[in-house]
Amino acid sequence: MRNIILCGFMGSGKTTLAKRLSEKLNMPFLDTDEEISKQEGKSITEIFAENGEAYFRTLETELIKRLSNEEGKIISLGGGLAAKTENHTYLKKAGTVIFIDCPVDKILYRILGDSSRPLTKTGKEEIINLYNLRRPLYQKVADITIDSSSSKSNTLRLALEALDNIEK
Ligand code: S3P
Repeated sequence: MRNIILCGFMGSGKTTLAKRLSEKLNMPFLDTDEEISKQEGKSITEIFAENGEAYFRTLETELIKRLSNEEGKIISLGGGLAAKTENHTYLKKAGTVIFIDCPVDKILYRILGDSSRPLTKTGKEEIINLYNLRRPLYQKVADITIDSSSSKSNTLRLALEALDNIEK
């Protein structure tokens, strides 16, 4: 069974959906931020502060490269991972990529002021710019795009339907 990989901007609901898919499809769940944090023995905020963003991005690339040789997992990606084109080859190899597309106003509402996400320390304008820059890159790498602006159960239903369709 190929991996199922969820990409999208911070606060788009990747982790929530990944956990629900993991239960429904009985496949183990992996979150790249959690994996990197475990590996480094510190939080993402600490990695950014002590080692810098470039170091974190290298760890992300190493991780997705490794995961592209494994299978059977539901993988939730940190928001920047699928925004780096160098990672696209590994993502394509790793499995079916689902882009969780969420309107920017919902995202801002969820992430502004969240201290566990280092990139939200910038202002609203910067986040909107980053969102606009990244959205086409998520679309480019995705096999499936799911609109996550409705309820969590509806988003899950859309994802399951889309997965079912591409298997046929
Ligand atoms: C980031 C998103 C975060 C985390 C890090 C950087 C980004 O993950 O990887 O703070 O560049 O968008 P989430 O998308 O799970 O918040």
